[in-house]
Amino acid sequence: MLGVCYYPEHWDETRWETDARRMRELGISFVRIGEFAWSRLEPRRGEFDFAWLDRAMDILHAAGLKIVLGTPTATPPKWLVDEHPDIIPYDEQGRPRGFGSRRHYTFSSETWWTESARIVEIVAERYGHHPGLVGWQTDNEYGCHDTTVSWGPEDLKGFKSWLRLRYQSTDQLNEAWGSVFWSMELKSFDEVALPNLTVTEPNPATRLDFWRFHSDQVAAYDKMQCEIIRKHSPERWITHNFMGFVSDFDHFKVGDNLDLASWDSYPIGFVEKFPFSEVERNRWAETSHPDIAPYHHDLYRAVGKGRFWVMEQQPGPVNWAPWNPVPKPGMVRLWTWEALAHGADVVSYFRWRQATFAQEQMHAGLNLAGLDELSPGGLEAQRVAGELAALGPLPVTQQASVALVFDYQSYWTTMIQPQGKDFRYEELCFRWYEGLRRLGLDVDFVRPGASLDGYALVVVPCMTEVTEEARAALEAATGTVLIGARTGSRDRNFVIPSNLPPGPLGYATGNRVIQVSTLRPGLSDKVSGAIAGAGIRWRETLEASGEVLARFHNGDPALTKKGNILYLACWADEALLGSLLSLAAEKAKLETLPVPDYIRIRRRGDLTFAFNYGTENWALPAGSKPVLGGGVLEPQAVAVWRH
Ligand code: GLA
Ligand code: GLA
Repeated sequence: MLGVCYYPEHWDETRWETDARRMRELGISFVRIGEFAWSRLEPRRGEFDFAWLDRAMDILHAAGLKIVLGTPTATPPKWLVDEHPDIIPYDEQGRPRGFGSRRHYTFSSETWWTESARIVEIVAERYGHHPGLVGWQTDNEYGCHDTTVSWGPEDLKGFKSWLRLRYQSTDQLNEAWGSVFWSMELKSFDEVALPNLTVTEPNPATRLDFWRFHSDQVAAYDKMQCEIIRKHSPERWITHNFMGFVSDFDHFKVGDNLDLASWDSYPIGFVEKFPFSEVERNRWAETSHPDIAPYHHDLYRAVGKGRFWVMEQQPGPVNWAPWNPVPKPGMVRLWTWEALAHGADVVSYFRWRQATFAQEQMHAGLNLAGLDELSPGGLEAQRVAGELAALGPLPVTQQASVALVFDYQSYWTTMIQPQGKDFRYEELCFRWYEGLRRLGLDVDFVRPGASLDGYALVVVPCMTEVTEEARAALEAATGTVLIGARTGSRDRNFVIPSNLPPGPLGYATGNRVIQVSTLRPGLSDKVSGAIAGAGIRWRETLEASGEVLARFHNGDPALTKKGNILYLACWADEALLGSLLSLAAEKAKLETLPVPDYIRIRRRGDLTFAFNYGTENWALPAGSKPVLGGGVLEPQAVAVWRH
């Protein structure tokens, strides 16, 4: 169940055999290669050099490793960019983003599609039946370095065609966008401009369409690669390695192209990326926050329709965050076990050996910089390999009791029109997820509109547009349904619904939102009743026709209930969120196991796993007989028992 990312082109050929043998000795079965190697595969247009990759793949295969081959499109070579400068992406200020690192392409360039199809076809044809090959990775980390959206001439061209298809006529476009506002009406699609560099904020409906356009392009581009690969390599699976806290495109749509999802887990690096307070950041600096990796495991299990890998696992300090601490001893092992507990098929480390040159010199590998000598992280991976062998095959992952409905478009919508500066969709979902896991619950992410059958509790932190499918799925849910503020607040054209928010859920919730107040940091509105705490950041004034379970200080409804549907009219502070989720779990008749903030538990089949991110011991629930670890869970330790 372990793998590693390897770059044979970074090392002298005389070392490849030793590397492959040492990977096997360590307990590694899978090796991902090739995703940045275009300049070595095609040094000049039409001049190919496959001999080195043939040898590398043969050596890896001969050692018993299973190969995952990446298409090399994340790094178009210099000659290609010079030949076709229209490949280059533009930033929001309208400046070209140049050659010299990676991902220097825009999904809108037609030349780029042609060139991508060409190289993918050549690589897929050559290696599609290689006996060592088990699967493919398309490209590398779509969206990394802010590359989903681009603002250049090719993007404008693509956007115009996309709009023509969507709206057919400028009358319909003007109607949908509300272009009469500020005399923005257009008479022809040629008049469409990019929604950047405007004097004040551009039309939100235009921005949302621009985002949707790019999101659609990522999915279509990925599909193009998948179709070519399937033609030449029909027996092998295809994945893509997604990222943490990147929501610029609809990952579910890319997931539709794939056989399984994978993602790149850098738990400590992400502590800097997520809007934690400085106190929290320091607290979790060397372990990461206990929900960062799990949140993504559960998200990508959904994107992969039940199957996911960790394609890149942090094995020690990384190089790219503002600060890059060494993980506490035990964390590399803990993260590996945790991914497996959440259902990962394989955990693959990035990278085999620390590079001695170029941009990622300070990024740890399983081996010390330039050497054939295991790093501290390498030794932990070795330990996991031994433990896995002793434990035997892991059971199949079952459906969780709780569903969290996750919606990429809500991230875009609330970014476009925050109304309160700190209304951050990802943060909201993360905090709800954290609250559920503090109750010891397992959580599945679910795409809007997907079936909610079998879930005792369904939570919707926020879903700005409630489509007909999403409404139907929520109304069909038989479990307790908890809906957060701002849900149903816009239709698909970014228009306020005619019955006011929550729009399509007005009847089911019994509510109508009359006013919204956003609150500066430090301001709050006390909530009491069936739940207690405070509303912060976002606070709605509701007209409620159902039962009111809790009220704000002035008596306005804060939490309502109609049938099995609860509605919360604010962003909850920590206390309110804790009490809300406990109440929801109780109404859903879920058995909870509240844990301290540094402990997490997760079930896979008949196994329960526990993880300690803290500095204190934790006693396992009475009666559990660990098959891994002891009855006392020490800091950074893992325990597994059968339930
Ligand atoms: C200014 C403008 C108006 C409107 C308001 C909104 O006063 O003149 O058109 O934008 O701000 O507060
Ligand atoms: C990403 C990329 C890798 C590498 C790592 C470093 O995950 O996919 O190529 O740059 O980051 O952490």
